Amino acid sequence: MSYARITGTGGYLPKKVLKNKDLESLLDTTDEWIYTRTGIRQRHIAADNEFTCDLAEQAARIALDAAQRTPDEVDLIVVATTTPDQVFPSTACLLQERLGIHGCPAFDVQAVCAGFIYAMDVAQRYIQTGASRCALVVGAETFSRILDWSDRSTCVLFGDGAGAMVLESSSEPGILSSHLHADGAYKDLLCVPVGVSTAYRELLNGQAYTEMQGREVFKWAVSALGDAVMEAVKANGLSCLDIDWLVPHQANIRIINAIARRLDLSMDNVVVTIGRHGNTSAASIPLAFDEAVRDGRIKDGQTIIIEGFGGGFTWGSLLFKF
Ligand code: ACO
Repeated sequence: MSYARITGTGGYLPKKVLKNKDLESLLDTTDEWIYTRTGIRQRHIAADNEFTCDLAEQAARIALDAAQRTPDEVDLIVVATTTPDQVFPSTACLLQERLGIHGCPAFDVQAVCAGFIYAMDVAQRYIQTGASRCALVVGAETFSRILDWSDRSTCVLFGDGAGAMVLESSSEPGILSSHLHADGAYKDLLCVPVGVSTAYRELLNGQAYTEMQGREVFKWAVSALGDAVMEAVKANGLSCLDIDWLVPHQANIRIINAIARRLDLSMDNVVVTIGRHGNTSAASIPLAFDEAVRDGRIKDGQTIIIEGFGGGFTWGSLLFKF
C-alpha cells in the first residue's frame, strides 16, 4: 500500500468582494453584528456568468502547476460541491472536459461543508489501493446561488470560491488517517429543503434556499469537530502538541476558537481565513490550506489536521504529513 501525498495546492476566489458594509444597505444588519458573531468582514461573490466549474478550473490549474503535473497525468477527479453547474453531468466531468482529460474516473461528492474531507477520503483510498497515482481533488462552490438574500440570518455567512489539491502516490507519508461521520437525524437543522425530485419548479425559479437553525448547528459543530480532531490525533498515537497546523472548515470564528480552546491548541497554530472569505462550504478548507502554503506558514514535513462540518449532518477530519 502506498501513501497519498499532497504535491500541489491551488485556490481561486471570484473578483467581486461583498463587504459587510455593503450588506448594511440591503438588510437590517450591521458590520459590527456580523463581525462579532462570526468573524466575517467580507466574502467573494461569483459574477452572474461565472459558475462552479469556472472556479474549480482556475483552482485546479493552479494546483496542477504547483505539483508540476500536466492534466494528462491526472487519473482521478473528485469534486466536492453542493452547487453543481448542472443536474448532470457532474461538475467533475465538466472539469475533466475543460482540462482536456479523457477516460479517467470523474465524479462529484456531496457532503456540503464537509465535502472536501469526504472527497479527500475517497481519493486517498484510490491511491492507497493503487487504483490511482495522481488524483485531482477540488472543493468548489457558488453558495451565493442558494441563499435567500433577504434572510439576514443566513446570507451574511457564506461566500463563493474554489480550492484544489493534487494527491499523488508515494512511499513517504502522506495522509495518515481519515475519519468520516454523518447523522441524517439532523437533516432539518441545516438544509435546502427542496431538490430536483421534490420541487424542480422552485429550483428553476431560483427559490431553493439554505435554511439553518444557527444555534443548534453551532453547538453541534463545536462538539463534533472537537471529537473528530481528537479521533485523528488518538488514531495516530499523537497529542495535540504534535500538531503543527489545524486547518478548519471556516464557518464561524467562534466555532474555530471554541475547538482550539477545547483542544488546548494555540490560535497561532490555526489557519483562519473566515474574515476575508466567509463560509465557502466545500471550498473553505483547500482555500485556507493553499493560502497558508503560499505564504510559507505551512512547510514540508509538518503535521496537519483538516476538519469539516456540514449539512446532513456530515463531519470528519484528516491527519497528514505535508
Ligand atoms: N444582523 C443582525 N441581527 C441578526 C442577524 C444579522 N445578520 N442575523 C440574526 N440576527 C438577530 C436574530 O434575528 C436575533 O434577534 P432576536 O433576538 O430579536 O430574535 C438575534 O440576532 C440573535 O440571533 P441568533 O441566531 O440567536 O444569533 P447567534 O448568536 O446564534 O448567531 C449565527 C447566529 C452567527 C448564525 C450562529 O448561530 C452560528 O454561527 N451558527 C453556526 C452556523 C454555521 O456554522 N453554519 C454553517 C455550517 S456549515 C454548512 O454545512 C453550511
